[in-house]
Amino acid sequence: MNRPDVTELVPPDRTLMGPGPSDVHPRVLKAMSTPLVGHLDPYFIEIMDEVQDLLRYTFRTDNQWTIPVSGTGSAAMEAAIGNVTEPGDTVLVPTNGYFGGRMASMVRRAGGSVVEVDAPWGEPLDPAAVEAAFAEHQPDVFGFVHAETSTGVLQPEVPQLTDIAHSHDALVIADTVTSLGGVELRVDEWDVDVAYSGPQKCLSCPPGASPLTLNDRAMDKVLSREEDARSWYLDLSLLQGYWGDDRAYHHTAPITNVYGLREALRLVAEEGIENRWARHRRVAGGLKTGLQSMGLEMNASDDYWLPSLNAVRVPGGVDAGDVISQLLAEYDIEIAGGLGDLAGEIFRIGCMGHSARPKNVIALLGALGSVLEDADADVDVPAGLAAANSAL
Ligand SMILES: Cc1ncc(COP(=O)(O)O)c(C=O)c1O
Repeated sequence: MNRPDVTELVPPDRTLMGPGPSDVHPRVLKAMSTPLVGHLDPYFIEIMDEVQDLLRYTFRTDNQWTIPVSGTGSAAMEAAIGNVTEPGDTVLVPTNGYFGGRMASMVRRAGGSVVEVDAPWGEPLDPAAVEAAFAEHQPDVFGFVHAETSTGVLQPEVPQLTDIAHSHDALVIADTVTSLGGVELRVDEWDVDVAYSGPQKCLSCPPGASPLTLNDRAMDKVLSREEDARSWYLDLSLLQGYWGDDRAYHHTAPITNVYGLREALRLVAEEGIENRWARHRRVAGGLKTGLQSMGLEMNASDDYWLPSLNAVRVPGGVDAGDVISQLLAEYDIEIAGGLGDLAGEIFRIGCMGHSARPKNVIALLGALGSVLEDADADVDVPAGLAAANSAL
């Protein structure tokens, strides 16, 4: 075998306006280039406490059980679903987007039975449909997606959904991967039992350590399981030894990712969580107004528009894949296309964390408008830019 001749790593300078990851704040990158300490070093133990406090602030919860799970958002998702679902449990999941489907797969692997509450892709769940599904199936657990990255839909009326579940003695798991730190989310006030997220969306941190919080009701169920959780790595009763009072070894924490998350969460606390939600609404609002004034149509109605992920209909006769490739090749801007039922039909434009800045919105609108003009789409780029500028 010859010695591989691999060049130095020099990534292109992209602007990340897709469904995640988003642009990382320079302070987070800096934190991630600081020296390693051991995962049981007294210094790191302090860092762990701080990260847990910052996560509680960001989730709006007092839950003791609030940790970064080693791995991407799917690891926090599987930790939530795999620990709360016991073999034989019935779990209600939504069908209105890609990530409800992933929840269902994880439930089956955990030994649970899946039942579904339907809504079309591009619409939120209707509380009446959730109530009807509870009456029909009496599930033990109800999972829903607060911010559906595949459709750009924000689930409204969360307290109504949690009320329904609790009146049937079920636990609620919320997927907050694309909402945490960008869109109003109040875990305690809304009585969400378990919420998981990812760092690479509205927190603008590289993927690798993913937020998870569980209240006592959920942890009681986890700690009184008859059968061990099927994943050793994600077993919360074992992870309790490391993230709880003992601080004993379970696995080597991804130290650098925890540093990064700490800095990303410090930025959230400095800005103030409510100001941060407001910034996402303002900046993404400018983006939405610009897109609409250009002549494009949003996929989700204004009532459940998701600021962090803007799903825009692809104009007739335009190839979404070509537009996305041209934006990347000519403008260094990343956006994405649709998944599943919406493949080829929508563009997904993220406005998350450090990417949610007016300069990115203006650059994206100008670049997208020009690429769409090249594709002979009927767009009015100056009108879009003018509307966005005045909204911003
Ligand atoms: C709503 C939602 N849930 C779960 C995930 C899974 O996260 P990850 O890709 O970090 O594993 C994602 C990722 O995009 C997501 O958007």
